[in-house]
Order: sequence, then structure tokens, then C-alpha cells
Amino acid sequence: MPDTAARSATGRSAAGPAATALEVRDLHAGYGRATVLHGVSLQVARGEIVSVIGSNGAGKSTLVQTVAGLLPARAGEILLDGEGVTGATAQMRARRGVVLVPEGRRLFGELTVGENIRLGRRAARGRSDDDPVADLLDAFPVVRERWNQQSGLLSGGQQQMVALTRAAASRPRYLLLDEPSLGLSPALTLEVFRLVRLVAERTGAGVVLVEQMADQALRLASRAYVLEQGRVVASGEAGELRRSDAVRKAYLGG
Ligand SMILES: Nc1ncnc2c1ncn2[C@@H]1O[C@H](COP(=O)(O)OP(=O)(O)OP(=O)(O)O)[C@@H](O)[C@H]1O
Ligand SMILES: [Mg+2]
Repeated sequence: MPDTAARSATGRSAAGPAATALEVRDLHAGYGRATVLHGVSLQVARGEIVSVIGSNGAGKSTLVQTVAGLLPARAGEILLDGEGVTGATAQMRARRGVVLVPEGRRLFGELTVGENIRLGRRAARGRSDDDPVADLLDAFPVVRERWNQQSGLLSGGQQQMVALTRAAASRPRYLLLDEPSLGLSPALTLEVFRLVRLVAERTGAGVVLVEQMADQALRLASRAYVLEQGRVVASGEAGELRRSDAVRKAYLGG
């Protein structure tokens, strides 16, 4: 499917701009008396990978948690395919296809790989008949090889692959990935990002990829947003951002 690759690389199909899947408008959120997000706006098209980069404490996790409904928005709007869900519970959003892979993966460590992925399938609740898992297992046989092993005993990279496969099994429409490269070597990060690309292609989900590994994230994503102290300070085409002086100095080591 060469068309799919072209679409995921640009976020657009040959027919014109792809529909916006996820939109965040002027979002404010925080904890207690602290406001962390001060008016964040972003858009993700169907099948597109959009990266949110920023240093420690910029508000990246707060952003995806608020989109998933785990933290209330204090102001602003969250729209799924144009429909507002700002006041909806996390469960309601999950039913609509919002899937968060949180920082640190959070597999059920005592369950096997296969059991974890079956839980993902159960969460799909008939959103689509097309099960992407077989394709992913063909492309990443390491997950299939570990099918009956206890998830908690796998390496960090293997656990991240299981977490992504489980997320794909639940047939996400809006997939939020919070630092999937955390704790992984650059080589393993590349492998995990290759899986992220395949998940986006196979599920057609709009993907928000939160990352500190800015260079690799900007190579994978079509567009990106740079978050600093809860504000978007730069955004645009990922390749352009990667080449910009400000981003290179702040996030790519010059
Ligand atoms: N549960 C919480 N209660 C209070 N403050 C919090 C909580 N979680 C995060 N914060 C604060 O909110 C700010 C943003 O944190 P957040 O975790 O969103 O940043 P981040 O960009 O994901 O950082 P990192 O790259 O380290 O994961 C920080 O100042 C942090 O201390
Ligand atoms: Mg974080």
C-alpha cells in the first residue's frame, strides 16, 4: 500500500488534506493551585504522526493525560472528529477510541504477553473488524516469540513493543504515546518508532507522540509542536523544525 506510506508521511492523501481526527483548542490544565498548560492548541489528522517535544516538566504528560480525560481541562476544548468531548469521562473517550500508552508502559506485568494483547482486543469493542495484530506480529516476530512469557520479565524495549501492540489491538482512533523511548537505547528507540509507524498505518489512528528524543521523533513525525512551560513555542513541519536553529540549540544539542 504505497498510498498509506505517502499519507502517513505528510498527513494528507492524494485527494487533499486529511480530516482532522484530534483537535485541542486553547487547553488549560493543572494540578491543585498550579496551572501547567496555558492555552495549548494542536491538530492531528487521521493516520498522521504528530510529535510533541519539550524538556522535563514542559507539560507533555499533562497534555496527553488531559486529552485522555484523566485530568480535567480547566479551559479550552478537546474535539474528536469535530465533536467536543471536553467534559466527557475517560471511559467515554476510551469508547470513542482514545488510547493512551502512558509513560513507563504499565503492562500487567504478571500476565503473559498474549494475555496483555487479548485485553487490548477486548477494549476494541467492535470499533472495526480489521485486527491489525497479525500484521504487527509478522513485522515484529519478537512479540510473537514471547507470547506465553510473563510480560514483567521482558526487557524494556520488548515491553514497549508489547504495549504498542496491545494499544493497536484495541483499534485506536486517537493514539497518545507518552515517551515510548524512555530508558531505551537509540537503536531500540528506532525499532520502537518503526513499530509506531506501522501501528499508525495499520490502524489509521491519529498519533500524538510525546518525546524527549527529539531528533528521532522529528524524523518519524510529519509535524511537531514544541512545548515549553505549558505553551506551544514552535510548531510546523517536522523536517523544518529539525533544521531550525532554535530547536537544534534547545533540543538537539546544537
Ligand atoms: N500529579 C501531579 N501533581 C502536581 N504537579 C504535577 C503532577 N504531575 C506533574 N506535575 C507538574 O506539572 C508540570 C508538568 O509535568 P509533566 O509531567 O506534564 O511534564 P513532562 O513534559 O511530561 O515532563 P517529563 O519529560 O519529565 O515527563 C511539572 O512542573 C510537574 O512538576
Ligand atoms: Mg512526561
